[in-house]
This record gives sequence, structure tokens and C-alpha cells, in this order.
Amino acid sequence: MKDQNFLKANNARHMWHPMGAPGEIMENAPTIITRAEGVRIFDIDGHSTVDAVGGLWCVNVGYSNDNVKRAIADQLFELPYYSAFAGTSNDKAIELSYLLRDFFAPDDMVRAFFTSGGSDSVETCLRLARQYHRIKGEPGRTKFLSLKKGYHGTHFGGASVNGNNRFRIGYEPLLPGCFHLPAPYPYRNPYDETDPAKLADRIAAQMVDEIEFQGANTIAAFIMEPILGAGGVIVPHESFMPKLREICTRYGILMIADEVITGFGRSGDWTGSRHWGVKPDLMSTAKGITSGYLPFGAAMISAPVAEVFETAESADAAIWHGYTYSAHPVCAAAAIANVTELQRLNVPENAAARGTQLYESVLKLAEKHDIIGDVRGGHGLMTGIEIVSDRAAKTPMDAATMKRIHKAAYEAGAMVRLGAHNILMSPPLTISAEEIDVVLQALDAGFAAA
Ligand SMILES: Cc1ncc(COP(=O)(O)O)c(C=O)c1O
Repeated sequence: MKDQNFLKANNARHMWHPMGAPGEIMENAPTIITRAEGVRIFDIDGHSTVDAVGGLWCVNVGYSNDNVKRAIADQLFELPYYSAFAGTSNDKAIELSYLLRDFFAPDDMVRAFFTSGGSDSVETCLRLARQYHRIKGEPGRTKFLSLKKGYHGTHFGGASVNGNNRFRIGYEPLLPGCFHLPAPYPYRNPYDETDPAKLADRIAAQMVDEIEFQGANTIAAFIMEPILGAGGVIVPHESFMPKLREICTRYGILMIADEVITGFGRSGDWTGSRHWGVKPDLMSTAKGITSGYLPFGAAMISAPVAEVFETAESADAAIWHGYTYSAHPVCAAAAIANVTELQRLNVPENAAARGTQLYESVLKLAEKHDIIGDVRGGHGLMTGIEIVSDRAAKTPMDAATMKRIHKAAYEAGAMVRLGAHNILMSPPLTISAEEIDVVLQALDAGFAAA
């Protein structure tokens, strides 16, 4: 490793970081992380914190899983790369597809299309949805519905169904024919509806209204995260996803569950769809599939959708889509080892227990700190805390104060993530009760510094 002085002098000088203004990042150089162990990360100055972010909602298995590391190293020596485009395959991708078939059987997902990450998986699902209707003789079904506050990555398709204008405005015009419904967000919504079940009904009614207005035979798919992550950890009422599933079925619209965060145990169940008792038509996955050890993802395809592609006679069924790194053997080896480890450790059980501990303890912190406007979570290891400067008026906290909270929490022992005026947490699913306590103490210190 280059010495400390070199790294600090060159930090953000020759590299643009995702999600931020280059000039500002040059001025306020990012924290340099050099090492990780268990659920802890270490920065260049040797300061150690519990990583309540889990890398970026992805290090489900924790940082120290030797089985995953060994699988990656072994595969590098066996076959570092080969293409999966027509005519060739590799053993690890085949083995992974078999493993995922069992893993996703309760969700009725039977085929995998491998990608290099979440945005790729979303894009794949959106494309397959259009193509599915074309094969079925309904090429007019091209539009997409989605939720405000939803996050579906940054490719043009994913950005077009994104529900946060921060990821849209600078890149417009986006894909035509994308329409957004309100988020299931009782704290703020256009109906002033604070009851989550009634809010679910309002949004379902709005969905029907929008479908009938657009014409059902113009809509390809509806995409949603089972629990909205980057939008602030928005947990819908348990009736929400089943209601929307029923509406999709009624109107012949495919339901895409974006499980990039919720897949592989984070919700306290193996998938977010399973958590709500829903079987979607397509699923986008990534992150937890390799616990972030390597970039990888899978678009999962349900039995009825697979059947349409596999039994079609028309040339329309050829999938002219794919990535150089689709089915990458080293990533596939990482995914096999990682999913096997997640299963051996039964991570959903710990995610549910530790998620409840974190959520309930943050609710207690809200009794002490009146800058906490809303606390969301309680369904696995995804917790959002909305910070306000005036609780009654729900005024979003200013950015400078949010940075102060973040810094004080970091110094007190926890890395948390800021999403505008929200604090977002998604630690490794292997975290212990004591390590959750460290996060809570650090948050307490952070809020005291506001
Ligand atoms: C729900 C969801 N979908 C898609 C993505 C995009 O994934 P990636 O950043 O791997 O492209 C993310 C990333 O956070 C996500 O949370």
C-alpha cells in the first residue's frame, strides 16, 4: 500500500466518486477505509467503527468469511474469466443457477439471468418485461409504473422508474412512459394519511385509476422494492404488496420485485417478497448475492414468464441483451460460497432479532432526542431515522447538522449513512447484540452533537 501521506494527498484528486459533487468532494475528502474484520471497518488513521451501513446494504455475511474468500481465490487460479454468450458456459455459473433455483423455489423463481450488479439486474427485468408482452402478441405494453421514493439504480431504465428526483433531473429526458404512484410513507404523503393500512388502500386505488387512465394494454410492468431502501427505509403496511400484486394480475401487468437490498436475508426472510407473502413475476437481485465481495447480480424469472420465452416459436423470444461479465465464473464462485454461508448461518433469523433490537432501541432514543421525527424499520436489518429541526412542523434537518451528527457518531464508534436528512442503517446480518449496542451508543452521541 502507498504511504499515508500519498493516499491523503491524492484522495479524490484523480477519481470522481459516485453520488456527490466532484469539487465538494475534493474539498472535503472522503474517509479512507483500509481494512475490515467481522462487522468492523478501520480507516487510514487506525480508527475502528462498527459498520452499520454494511458497505452499502450489501455485506450480508460480514467482512471475514474465509469460505467466500477462498472460493474466489481458487476460482481465479482455475478459470478467471470466460464468456457466457451463445456457445459457451462455465461450471460455476451452472452450479449457481442450480443453487438459486432451490433458493428461490418458494418465490416460484425458476431461471436466473446473471448480471454485474443491481442496476444491470433492474435493466434486465425492465427489458424482459417488454419482450414478454411482445412475444405474447401485445407489443403495445411498453409503459412502467413505480413508486415515488423508490430507488432502482442509475441506468436510464432504472433512473426512469426511480422515485427521487435527485437521480433524475440532471439526466432528463428519461424513458418516456414511466408513471409514479405515491410511496407507502405514512409520515409524509399527499393524502395526509397516517394509518399505514388506509394509506395502502389509497395508493392501490390510485394505481387502479392510473392503469385505467393509461389503458392497461399499454403497461408492461410495475416495479417496487418490498421495503424501500435508499428512499429512507420505508416499510409498507403488510397489505400493500399483496394488494398491488393482485392489481397487476388483474390487469395483466408484470410485477417486478426489486430485491437488490431485500434479497438474501435482510428483511428477516430470504426475500422481501416472501416476507410479504407475494410471488412476483420477475426479481432483480445483486448486493447480498456475493455480500459485496465481488460485483454481481441476477435477474430472476418466474415459471410463467420463463414458459412464455421458452415455448415461443417466434424469433422475438431471443434475448438480445447481456453483459460481458454475465455469469462471470469468479463472481459465480463467490455467490455459491456466499449463499451457502448465508444459509449455514441462517442469517434471516439474526437479521430479524437484531433488526428488532435496533428499531426498538432507536424508538427509545426518540424519547430523548426531539430531532428524531420518524423511526422506520422493525422488519430485519434495515432502519431509517428521519431527522427534523422542528418535530411538530416536520422540518427536514439541514445538511450541516446532518454532517455533524454523522461525524460525531463515527467518532463514537459507528459508521452510519446519510440519505438527505435520513440516517440509514443496514449492518451485516451477522452482527451481534453487543455490536448493535455500540451503534446505539454512537447514535446517541451523534444526536447529542446536533
Ligand atoms: C433497490 C435497489 N435497486 C437497484 C440498485 C442499484 O444497484 P447497483 O448500485 O449495484 O447498480 C440499488 C442500489 O442501491 C438498490 O438499492
